[in-house]
Amino acid sequence: MIQPAITGSGVFTPESIITNDELVVAFNAYADRVNAENADAIAAGEVEAVPHSSAEFIVSASGIEQRYVMDKDGVLDPDRMFPKLNARPDDAPSIMAEMAVAAIETALAQAGRDASEVDLVICAASNHERAYPAIAVEIQNLIGAGGFAFDMNVACSSATFGIQAAADMVRAGSVQCAIVVNPEICSAHLEWRDRDCHFIFGDVATAVVIEPAANAKGAHFMIHGTRCATEYSNNIRNNNGFLRRTHDQMDDRRDMQFMQNGRKVFKEVLPMVSAHILGHLQDTGWTPDDLKRLWLHQANKTMNDFIGKKVLGRTPIAGEQPNILQDYANTSSAGSIIAFSKYSSDLTLGDRGVICSFGAGYSVGSVLVQRA
Ligand code: COA
Repeated sequence: MIQPAITGSGVFTPESIITNDELVVAFNAYADRVNAENADAIAAGEVEAVPHSSAEFIVSASGIEQRYVMDKDGVLDPDRMFPKLNARPDDAPSIMAEMAVAAIETALAQAGRDASEVDLVICAASNHERAYPAIAVEIQNLIGAGGFAFDMNVACSSATFGIQAAADMVRAGSVQCAIVVNPEICSAHLEWRDRDCHFIFGDVATAVVIEPAANAKGAHFMIHGTRCATEYSNNIRNNNGFLRRTHDQMDDRRDMQFMQNGRKVFKEVLPMVSAHILGHLQDTGWTPDDLKRLWLHQANKTMNDFIGKKVLGRTPIAGEQPNILQDYANTSSAGSIIAFSKYSSDLTLGDRGVICSFGAGYSVGSVLVQRA
C-alpha cells in the first residue's frame, strides 16, 4: 500500500490587521449612529438599543486579540461595516485563487516540487467566490498544474476532509502530488454589525502538499490515518445559497451571513471532538501519551484548552497545543493548518501529532501524523 505524507505546507497572511480596539471603536460608532437614528423608537420601547461591544469581553470570551483581513477600510467604516471586495471581471484571477496561489507557492517550495508536477488541486473552504467553474480549476490553471481539480465545502472542517480525500487518492495510486488549499475570506460572510459575533473571524489561506512518502524530498509528516464525522445541526448556519435572488429584501436578511448559537456550539461540539480524537487514536493503536502536538481548530481558546485537557488527561504543557487564534482569530478551515504550518518544524523523527478541525455541519475531522 502507498503511504501518503504531508511534504509541505504554507500560509498566506493578508497585510491588514484589525486589533480588538480598532474593531470596537468602529462597532460602537455604528451602534451610536443607529441608536441616534432610532432614539424615539428606543425611548418608546419599540426598538432595542444596540449595546456597545468591548475589547475586554472579546479577549476573555474568545482569546482573540486581532485578525488579518483582505480589506480593512470597509470593515472599519461605521457606515458600511463590510469589506470592499468587489467581484472581479471574468478575465482577472479571483481573489480566492490569488490567495490560494500565494499559500501554494510556499507549500510547494517546502516540498521541493514544481507546480507542473501537481496532478490534483482541492480547494477546500467554507465559502466559494462563485458557483462554477470551480475555484480549484482556476488555481490549477494559474499555477500550471496538470491532472484535475475540484472545490469542496465542509465549513470549518474543509481542510481535514480535503486532506482525507487527497490522502486516500494518493494511497490508491490515482494521484501522485496533491494540493489541498484553503483560501478563507471569512470577513465577507461575517455580520460585522452583530455584537455577539463581530469579533470572531479573520482572513487567510493555507495549503498542504500530499504525496507518497516514498517520493518525499525532505522532512515530512506521514499520514497514519484520517477520520471524518458529521452530525446535522442548525447551530452554525448561513442561508446564502444560489436561491438568494428569489428572496425579497435579501440585503436585510440576517441569515444571509454567518449565524451561530455560540453557547450551544460550545456545549455540543466539545464532547464530540474529544471523543472523536480519542476514538481515532485508540483505533490506530496510539495512546494520548504518544502525542507530541495537537494542532486544533482555532475558534476559541477556552474550547481548545478543554479539548487538550480531555484528550491528554491533563493540562497541556506550553507548546504542546499551539494556538494562533490570538493573532488570526477564527479562520474557519485554515486555523488548524496555520497552527500545523507554524508549529511543526521543531518536531523530531518519530514524533506524533494530530491535526483536528471542527465546526458547522456539525463536522469534525482528524489527521494522525508522524514526523519522518
Ligand atoms: N462585547 C461585550 N459584551 C458582549 C459581546 C461583545 N462583543 N458579545 C456578547 N456580549 C455579552 C452578551 O450579551 C452576554 O451578556 P448577558 O450575560 O448580560 O446576557 C454576555 O456577554 C455573554 O455572552 P455569550 O454570547 O453567552 O458569550 P460566550 O461566553 O458564550 O462567548 C463566543 C461567545 C461566541 C466567543 C463563544 O460562545 C464561542 O466561542 N462559542 C463557540 C464558537 C464556535 O466554535 N463556533 C464555530 C464557528 S466556525
